[in-house]
Amino acid sequence: MSRLVCVSNRISLPRKSAAPGGLAVGVLSALKRTGGLWFGWGGETTDEPPGDPDLHIREGVTYATVDLRKREFDLYYNGYANQVLWPLFHYFLRGMRYNVEERDAYESVNRLFAQKLLPLLQPRDLIWVHDYHLIPLGRHLREMGVSGPLGFFLHIPFPNIEMLRVLPPYAELLRDLTHYDVVGFQTENDLKAFYSGIEHLFGAEAIRGDGRVRVGDRTLRAEVFPIGVDVVTVQNEAMEAMSSDVVRRMYDSLMGRQLMVGVDRLDYSKGLVERFSAYQHFLETYPENVGRITYMQIAPLSRSDVKAYVEIRQSLEQAAGRTNGRFADTDWTPIRYLNRNFPHATLMGLLRSAHVGIVTPLRDGMNLVAKEFVAAQNPDDPGVLILSNLAGAARELGSALLVNPYDSRAVGHAIQAALAMPLPERRERHAAMLQILKRNDIAAWSRRFIEALEKAGGSEPRVRAVGKGS
Ligand code: G6P
Repeated sequence: MSRLVCVSNRISLPRKSAAPGGLAVGVLSALKRTGGLWFGWGGETTDEPPGDPDLHIREGVTYATVDLRKREFDLYYNGYANQVLWPLFHYFLRGMRYNVEERDAYESVNRLFAQKLLPLLQPRDLIWVHDYHLIPLGRHLREMGVSGPLGFFLHIPFPNIEMLRVLPPYAELLRDLTHYDVVGFQTENDLKAFYSGIEHLFGAEAIRGDGRVRVGDRTLRAEVFPIGVDVVTVQNEAMEAMSSDVVRRMYDSLMGRQLMVGVDRLDYSKGLVERFSAYQHFLETYPENVGRITYMQIAPLSRSDVKAYVEIRQSLEQAAGRTNGRFADTDWTPIRYLNRNFPHATLMGLLRSAHVGIVTPLRDGMNLVAKEFVAAQNPDDPGVLILSNLAGAARELGSALLVNPYDSRAVGHAIQAALAMPLPERRERHAAMLQILKRNDIAAWSRRFIEALEKAGGSEPRVRAVGKGS
C-alpha cells in the first residue's frame, strides 16, 4: 500500500494546541486513518538558514517540520499568501496589493519546501498538497524528479477568471496547478471557476467531456471534494462537554436566556462586522428580545501581523462596545466577545448549548463550524443554524436558514425566526442536515481524494533520482 504524504503550510503538532481552521482538522483525520507523513512549517522563524526537518512520530504519523527565515516568512506568508492570494480568492479586491518581492519569496519558500521534502520521500508515496500557500510546490517537485501521483486540494474558494486575472502572474498560477494529477475544490462553483481559467488560458478544447483537463502532454482530473466533519467525534465531544466546568458555568450564567453562538477566526472574510450590525438591527427591530438573548462570539486572533487583521480587530471592538454600551443592563450584556480559543471539545459543548448558531462569512471555501454546529446538536431539541449563502457549506446545508451576510435586515429577521422556530421544524431541518453530514463525513472526504489520487498513479516507482533522466 502507498504511504500518504500530506504537505501544508501549517501543521498541527501533537501536544501543541490545535491549529485553527478546517485544514488542520482534515489533514490530521486523513493521516490518523491511514498513517503517513505530514510535512510543513513548524511555526517558528529563525535568523539562520533552515536546517533539516525535525521529525516526530506519534500514533503512526510522522510529523516533519521546517523553520523558515523571518524575513522570507513575512514576505511569503503575511505578504503573498495572506495579502494577495487570500483576499483575491475571497473576492476582496480592495484588500489585495501585489508586490514582486513577496511573489519571489512565495516561489523560494515553495522551492525550499520541495528541497526539504524530497529526501523524505519514498518511491510509492501519494503526495497530497494542501491550500493556497503551496500552489507551486507540485511544479518544484516535478522539476526535482518526482513523477508519481501529486494531488492538490484548495480549502478556500477559487476565483473566476475575471477576478483571477487581476493577479499579474495568474497564468503561472494556473499552469502550476496543471502539474498535479488531481486538483480538488470545495464546491462546484470553485471547479467552474477553475475551468473558466483553463479555458481562458488554454482554450475550451483543454477541458475534456469527462471533466479532465488536458494541457500539453499532461492530463489532470479536477473534481469537487466538499470537506466534512467527524460527526461521531463531534457528537461525543459535545455531549461530554455539557458536564464540563466551562460549559456549565457559561450555561448557568445565562440565567435562562436564549443563547446565540458564533465561532470564527478573527478574519475580515468571516463577516463579523456585518454580523454585529445585524444583531444590533435585530435588537432595534424586535425590542422584546432586549435582555432575553445573549450572543456569544468567540473569535480567536489570527494573522495578527497583517494590517487588515489589525484593522478588523479594532472595528469589532468598537462595534461590540457600541452595542453593549447602548443596550446592556446591570445584569445583561448583549454581546460576549471573546478573542480566545478553547479546546475543540469545549467548543462543541458551547455549540450544543446554543439555540442559534450564526455563521455568516462574506465568502468561505466551506466553513466547518457550520457543519460542527449541526453535528453537535441534541437531535431531540436542536438549535437552529443561520448560514451565509456565500459559504461553501450552504451547498449541502440547504435546510439551514440561509441569508445574505451583507443584508443586516435579513440576518436580523433570521435571528428572530430562529428563536421562534417550533420544535418539529427544528427537528426536521436538523435531521435533514445531519443525514447529509453523515453521508459525507471527513473520512469520506479523504477517502475519495486518496482514491482519485491512487487512480491517477501508474505502477512505476514515483520518485526518480534527479538527473538520471529515467
Ligand atoms: C484557513 C486556511 C488554512 C489555514 C487556516 C488558519 O482555514 O484555509 O490554510 O491554515 O485558515 O490560518 P493560518 O494563517 O493561521 O494558518
